[in-house]
Amino acid sequence: MKMLEQSPLYLYFCPLSLITIFLYKWLTLRKAAVKNLPPSPPKVPIIGNLHQIGPDPHVSLRDLAQKVALGRKYYSVYKGKSYKILFDELMKMLGYSRSIGDFFPWLGWVDWLSGLNGKVEKAANEIDTFLEGVLRDHPSTTASNNGCANKDFVSILLEIQKTDAGSSIDRECIKAIILDIFAAGTETTSTTLEWIIAALIKSPQVMFKLQNEVREIGKGKSKILEGDLVKMNYLKAVMKESMRLYFTAPLLIPREARQDVKLMGYDIRSGTQVLINAWAIARDPSLWDKPEEFRPERFLNSPIDYKGLHYEYLPFGSGRRGCPGIQFAMAVNELALANVVHKFDFELPDGEILEDLDMTGVSGITLRRKSPLLVVARPHV
Ligand code: HEM
Repeated sequence: MKMLEQSPLYLYFCPLSLITIFLYKWLTLRKAAVKNLPPSPPKVPIIGNLHQIGPDPHVSLRDLAQKVALGRKYYSVYKGKSYKILFDELMKMLGYSRSIGDFFPWLGWVDWLSGLNGKVEKAANEIDTFLEGVLRDHPSTTASNNGCANKDFVSILLEIQKTDAGSSIDRECIKAIILDIFAAGTETTSTTLEWIIAALIKSPQVMFKLQNEVREIGKGKSKILEGDLVKMNYLKAVMKESMRLYFTAPLLIPREARQDVKLMGYDIRSGTQVLINAWAIARDPSLWDKPEEFRPERFLNSPIDYKGLHYEYLPFGSGRRGCPGIQFAMAVNELALANVVHKFDFELPDGEILEDLDMTGVSGITLRRKSPLLVVARPHV
């Protein structure tokens, strides 16, 4: 206080700094306003529906992905924490709704104060320890001379690293690739299947038609095989329609503009993070007839598919960052769906009626069901 009395300049310093900051912000925002920017925070031009994953993915699909990618199943992975919990935490953090800094970069410090950045660092360290363990435990691959046929993903990467002297793949790179494939490949597949089953239960007439097709083609067989799927046109339409209405990755993967571009009249500045609301596009009434209805018939005899060339329907994204796991995901999900509806009849538990079945999603990088799907499955005889 004494100091303030002796130097009245200090009295002016604080308000002056505040005024300068406000002036700076006002001027930069005005400069941005001269351009025709989209109606959203300047760094995130297209903000879509925000959804978030829940806690209960399908164990069998995860197990399958673990075997394909890592070579074996992992139960307890870090200080007794299960693999499932570890990856669920990661997926939650990848959600868009949590980080203030992502939307307003100049408020990035709030993420430190809120503890978000600390949590991210902790999760990253735990995942790194897990991935180190995967590489350390992996059996030596050079001894095997089976070609690639029986090898899992990690083996193949380790082999490239060992045998290709000029390879740019190092240990960090391998860990990043495994994480990428794993994060992108497990949650998406199980969530998609969960939405499909829910949509079918909600629409008994579609379920009836699907079961007729599958049971006709699978007559006398103990299980449906990949070869049978080719003839199941209605099943494919059901998959497509469910993935249109219940988008697993509603905002795809964020892009960053590498140069200033004009998009539909809007100015997108270089360095801007762009989110594509594929969920909204797939429900746009100007592109789809009665978009809110679950109607697989719309895909029968339709040329629209999910490979990224029909921009009104992008469940697997498009372009260079489009999903590389389409074939794997579709084969797994079609086969799982066909076998499940072949073998079981479904109903809601405890006298619940169809109207009770909540189809709300929650925000995150994948769109998961708000409430877990609980059904009674009776073996079909
Ligand atoms: C039904 C299941 C799946 C759905 C709906 C799905 C959807 C997507 C979508 C929408 C993207 C972003 C594409 C873009 O932004 O253009 C993506 C990326 C990706 N997906 Fe899939 N995916 C599925 C299954 C899989 C599987 C099984 C794998 C691997 C085996 C996989 C691996 C990846 C990878 C590596 C990326 C790129 C991630 C990146 O760019 O960092 N996905 N997927």
